[in-house]
Amino acid sequence: MKYMQKVFMTVFVMLVAVGTVFANGGGESQSGRGKGLIGVVMPTRSEERWIKDGNAVKEGLEKLGYTVDLQYSDDDIPTQSRQIDDMITKGVKVLVIASIDGSALSNQLANAAAAKIPVISYDRLLMQSRNVDYYVSFDNYKVGGQMGDILITGLKLAQATAAKPVIVELFAGSPDDNNSVGFYQGAMDKLQPYFDKGVLQVPSGQINRAVIGTLRWDAAEAQKRMENLLSAYYSGDVVLNGILSPYDPISLACLEACKAVGYGSTSGKPLPIVGGQDCIVASVKSILAGEQYATVLKDTRALGAATVTLVDTLMQGKTPTGLDTTSYNNGAKIVPSLLLDSVIVTKDNVQSAVIDTGYHTKAELGL
Ligand code: GAL
Repeated sequence: MKYMQKVFMTVFVMLVAVGTVFANGGGESQSGRGKGLIGVVMPTRSEERWIKDGNAVKEGLEKLGYTVDLQYSDDDIPTQSRQIDDMITKGVKVLVIASIDGSALSNQLANAAAAKIPVISYDRLLMQSRNVDYYVSFDNYKVGGQMGDILITGLKLAQATAAKPVIVELFAGSPDDNNSVGFYQGAMDKLQPYFDKGVLQVPSGQINRAVIGTLRWDAAEAQKRMENLLSAYYSGDVVLNGILSPYDPISLACLEACKAVGYGSTSGKPLPIVGGQDCIVASVKSILAGEQYATVLKDTRALGAATVTLVDTLMQGKTPTGLDTTSYNNGAKIVPSLLLDSVIVTKDNVQSAVIDTGYHTKAELGL
């Protein structure tokens, strides 16, 4: 009898243990049931776009029957590394990673490869590792070109002459994010002819990407730099006409710095022409209010949908087709890429590009 009781207890304990594993699976929505567990890591929850990205990927995958472990890394590299390691331990079938520092995850990527987990580099290219299978993003060089075009149009550079040069300052993205390279290069290739002709001038002389970068895309850091530039180089009659900005929160921060020293008031110094990127709600509101001049809309829903299709293709054991196999070298290999199109948004097309497409609702924009 005692023996039977022992056997019964052992089996019971085992059943409870197995049940617990299936019930917990590690958190939120990770039961391990359905078509398989997919790991999705986004850099931060403190930026509007990554929340949209995370939601788009999660909802799309869940609709197809996958279970999603979606984690945000608080812009902290050790947190992101740990989250990826945890996902590998949990046995995710595919990893979708939007990195903080594109070069900081080589160990995690090696672990994923050893566990035969395909890795999709999301929006930001994972660098210096052969263990990156696909890249899904926008054509970042083209996005940079659009940032340049925004200044060319907004500052009417085609009509300007060296006799009355147009004055600008330049901002770039985070130095550890490979996208910053494409944005900067694309913009500078458009603007270079105007620098060469003397039509465009940068009073601070700060032009190199290394000097004008904004670590972690931090708007507060950009605002401080703008304030310093204004006080160091814009005394007297020198008026800033335009700012190259790679990201909406940086654009808004720079505009704040300009307002603080009288731009945009009745002082006769209009707010500088500033573009941006990501089409965040606050920037669209600013565009409608006639402050920020433009932004570049990269539809996170489209990026999410493309990623979902790619994950599903891989999960079906198929080979994705139609990828760009020349553009993105991460330093260790060319990563096959899916590159989407972006759209310039000014006051003139907010309705058609942003509202009619449902990217932001009228209510979100306070209309
Ligand atoms: C970049 C991304 C931009 C912007 C920025 C800051 O990698 O391509 O669209 O979101 O990060 O988060």
